[in-house]
Amino acid sequence: MSHGDHIQQLPEGFSMLAWSTNSPIAAMGNGRVVGLQFHPEVQHTEYGTDIIRNFLVNVAGCSTNWSAESFIDAAIKDIREKVGDGRVLLGLSGGVDSSVAAALIHQAIGDQLTPVFVNNGLLRQGEADAVREAFTNHFKTNLVYVDASDRFLEKLKGVTDPEEKRKVIGETFIRVFEAEAEKAGPFQFLAQGTLYPDVIESATSSSNSKTAVKIKTHHNVGGLPEDMDFELLEPFRLLFKDEVRAVGRVLGVPEEIVERQPFPGPGLAVRLLGEINDEDLDLLRKADAIVREEIEAAGENENVWQYFAVLLPVNSTGVMGDYRTYARVVAVRAIASQDAMTADWAKLPYEVLGRISSRIVNEVNGINRVVYDITSKPPATIEWE
Ligand code: XMP
Repeated sequence: MSHGDHIQQLPEGFSMLAWSTNSPIAAMGNGRVVGLQFHPEVQHTEYGTDIIRNFLVNVAGCSTNWSAESFIDAAIKDIREKVGDGRVLLGLSGGVDSSVAAALIHQAIGDQLTPVFVNNGLLRQGEADAVREAFTNHFKTNLVYVDASDRFLEKLKGVTDPEEKRKVIGETFIRVFEAEAEKAGPFQFLAQGTLYPDVIESATSSSNSKTAVKIKTHHNVGGLPEDMDFELLEPFRLLFKDEVRAVGRVLGVPEEIVERQPFPGPGLAVRLLGEINDEDLDLLRKADAIVREEIEAAGENENVWQYFAVLLPVNSTGVMGDYRTYARVVAVRAIASQDAMTADWAKLPYEVLGRISSRIVNEVNGINRVVYDITSKPPATIEWE
């Protein structure tokens, strides 16, 4: 059992049938009624989805009438009713949730939506272009694209502490976002890709309240100002990530965005240990692109939650042909998880790891060693910083 959830006390009439190290009452029974604690929803549970379906449909009598299409129809109607002829601001991070929210809201109200995408110079290879292409050429939204890379990198000069990096990035983001919102405004609504798990996790303000909006600091766009006076528009408040992905596909959001793995707001800054500079960002981007390409080419991305490269602030000795090299080390991190609260290091096939290693060392000038991180969370975290 994960997360420490366990039953402490038997209900009346029940007796214990099984236990495990972490769960004092793993199974219990009372005549023909048997209770068993396990995770039917996780990938490792064979027939888990069948078990859930059997319970909901055959036992509880629910009907399975949710579809992405019916959700989209209802959501478009709701958004039009709520927004009227108002204007909506959306912080586009390039992640799945804000991208699909932008596509949905754009379909509902067209140019009344203004997505703002801030390039903080800490994005992965190809990411800024993919988002711009999707939301200007494909969806033809009023995208406001701000390349604030220089400003972020300038502010990050000399900063090595991870939490300080987050703070600098968060504050710079707020300044840039506010300035753009002011230029393009006024707006009455702020749209967010909040999902059901976020709603459960944090009691954020209700979507109907017109109050100052409190947004979780770890929110993907990097933490928005706490005192902005907008009404919130959160069309995915009742959806899970896989449902948002299904909605995105029906709306025609490009697959590379719909399938995108979670990416932290501070971006590559927390994967480049120590001080950030352009040359190191370049090394990291190239190595990270190879990690992603190889894991995706092998189809392993379906089994892992996040996979990326980390550039370490150390050099190691190597040999290339007749020459000794003294160059940087990259750590590859790939983890399996359900919610990022706990994670297992991914048991990637050796061949995939081998290809990643030889490609990085051969193709990225300045890196001569690749190591694989085999630490789970806890005790390690997913990100290195
Ligand atoms: P950790 O490293 O805490 O990560 O095990 C758990 C999940 O959160 C992501 N993460 C962040 N996301 N801002 C974000 O938006 C952050 O500062 C941040 N730090 C970690 C991480 O990628 C993983 O999915």
